Amino acid sequence: MERLQKVIADSGVTSRRKAEELILAGKVRVNGEVISELGVKVSGNDIVEVDGAILDRDIVKKYYLLNKPRGVISSVSDEKKRPTVVDYIDTDVRIYPVGRLDYDTTGLIILTNDGKLANLLMHPTNHVPKTYIAKIEGFLNKDEIDRLRSGVRIDGRKVFVDHFKIRDKNLEKKTSLVEITIVEGRNHIVKKLFESLGHPVIRLSRIKIAFLEIDKLKSGEYRELTIKEVKKLYSLK
Ligand code: URA
Repeated sequence: MERLQKVIADSGVTSRRKAEELILAGKVRVNGEVISELGVKVSGNDIVEVDGAILDRDIVKKYYLLNKPRGVISSVSDEKKRPTVVDYIDTDVRIYPVGRLDYDTTGLIILTNDGKLANLLMHPTNHVPKTYIAKIEGFLNKDEIDRLRSGVRIDGRKVFVDHFKIRDKNLEKKTSLVEITIVEGRNHIVKKLFESLGHPVIRLSRIKIAFLEIDKLKSGEYRELTIKEVKKLYSLK
């Protein structure tokens, strides 16, 4: 038996917190009966409906790693009809991206229909490291690097930098290429971080999510994760 909100979140419909809101709003039924309080547990045989749709709990789980090109939106559909990350994956399964990369950011993004893993990877307490290469304006001085390493406050919360290094400097164009690993997933966080130090990001690419590296994946290419990799991602919790 598992808590209703967990079963809903694990099926990939939404997060656990939103599932709780749906329950409290009377939008969830178990075996035809509306459940509007938290704490109810269900078994694998119970039929769970969310907003009138029955949860498919035995669906085959699929996991993809895509090297997202620039000019692609990290969502399942786009009202402006721009290409989305899902368009790149040849599958009949309804998958969605785990977290977001900006429209103009390139690099690694995981797509899956496994809500349990998606929630695990996105939950801030699990500290999943992500590595980015950023081309920034100007050159960082020692004081700025120290500030970066000791945690810059963005929107009232510190960004903890796991690892930072300057890869290259272009003295003519006055730009730097830096590598940075952070363990959080707030929107636009890398851009905000360098912006706050006075070095706006010109180009950004994510080259690593936990132990998953970009390797031979070219822009727009993807591969399925192996069972071993999926297990390893689960063990990050
Ligand atoms: N940080 C950003 O600023 N943009 C991204 O796409 C990812 C992390």
